[in-house]
Amino acid sequence: MKALILCAGKGTRLRPLTFTNAKPLIPIANKPTIVYSLEMIKKAGINDVGIVVNPDNKSDFETTLGDGSSLGLNITYIVQEEPKGLAHAVAISEEFLKDEEFLMYLGDNLVTVDLGKFIKEFDNNDMDSFILLTPVEDPSRFGIAVLKDNKVIRVVEKPKDPPSNLAIIGVYIFKPIVFEAIKNIKPSWRGELEITDAIQWLLENNKNVGAHIVYGWWKDTGKPEDLIEANRKILEQLKESKNEGIVYENSSIHGNVIIGKNSRILNSVIRGPVIIGDNVLISDSYVGPYTSIGENVTIENAELENSIILDKATIAHLETRLDSSIIGANATVISSDSKPKSIKLVIGDYSKIEIPR
Ligand code: DAU
Repeated sequence: MKALILCAGKGTRLRPLTFTNAKPLIPIANKPTIVYSLEMIKKAGINDVGIVVNPDNKSDFETTLGDGSSLGLNITYIVQEEPKGLAHAVAISEEFLKDEEFLMYLGDNLVTVDLGKFIKEFDNNDMDSFILLTPVEDPSRFGIAVLKDNKVIRVVEKPKDPPSNLAIIGVYIFKPIVFEAIKNIKPSWRGELEITDAIQWLLENNKNVGAHIVYGWWKDTGKPEDLIEANRKILEQLKESKNEGIVYENSSIHGNVIIGKNSRILNSVIRGPVIIGDNVLISDSYVGPYTSIGENVTIENAELENSIILDKATIAHLETRLDSSIIGANATVISSDSKPKSIKLVIGDYSKIEIPR
C-alpha cells in the first residue's frame, strides 16, 4: 500500500511563518507536524509516500524531508499547480498510485491512531473505501457521514443543515475504484472537486465504505492558536526528562524537561513539560509549561510559557511574561533602556503583535 499526503494548501492564515516554511513543516515540540504523520504511516508498514505540494512550497519540503530516507521512506513529490480540491489532488496522483490501494492523509490534520489496525480492517472486510470520523460541535465546517447499523450510508461536504455530527477527519483508505468515482463528479459550489462527493458516488454505486469513530484528533484551521494547542497536546505526552546540556547549580528544573546538546541553563527556572533544542542559552529566566524552544535560541532575563520559539530566535530583558506566543526563526524580541522610551518595531508582513495596555 502507498500513502498520499495532501499539502498543497497556501497557508495564508499562518503568515508570516508560512513565508519561510510550508505549514506542515512548522515545528511543534521541535518536530515538523508532517513528521508525526510520516512516522505513523511508516509504523503502519507503508514505505512509499507521495506528497502533493504546490509550486511555491515544493522546495521547502525537499529541503526538510529530502527523499525520505532519513525516515526510512521513499518520498515522491507531486505538484498540484492550483488547489482545485482534494479529489483533484488524488486524480493528478493516479500515475504514482497506479493500481494499488492507498491511504490518503490531509496534511493539516494530526491523528494519533494505529493506522495499521484500520488498514487490516479495510483488507479483511473487502472494503472499497474507509474513513475516520469524530464527533464535532460545528459539523457544517466538515465533511459529514451518516451511519446506520455501523455502516456509512451517506456523506456530504460542509452541509448547511448537518444530518449528523460525525466529521470526516483527514485519513482515508481507497481502492483504485475511487479514480472512476472522481471522473464522475462535478466541482462543488466552492469550485473544488470534493473527495466527499467521490465517496458519495461510491455509496450510490453500492460500494462498501467502512468507518471508525476516533477521538484525540487535532486540525490546523490555519490559526496561530492551533499551533499552540497542538504544541500543548504533544508536550502533555512528554513522559521523560533528558538532559544533554548543562544545568548550572543556581537553576532548577521541575517536571518533564528535555534539554538538547550544548545547551546551558543558568540562574533560571524551567517548569515542564518543556522541550529545549541544541545550543540554547537560557539565563536569568523562567520558562514555563508547554513551551518548545528550537536550536540556537538565546533567552536572557525573560519569562515565557505556553509558547513556541523557533531556531535562532533571541528573547531578552522583557518586563512582561510572554504567553501563548510563536516567535519565528531568527526573530528578536528585546527591551532596552534607550531614550526616548518607545516601542521600536521591525515587523514582517502579516505579523501580529499584542501589547498589554
Ligand atoms: O479536516 C477534515 C476536513 O478536510 C474534512 O472534514 C472535509 O470533508 C474535507 O473536504 C477537508 O475540508 P477542508 O476545507 O478543511 O480542506 P482544506 O481545503 O483545508 O484542505 C485540507 C488539506 O489538503 C490541506 O492540508 C491542504 C490540502 N489540499 C487542499 C486542496 C483544496 C491540497 O493539497 N490540494 C487541494 O486542492
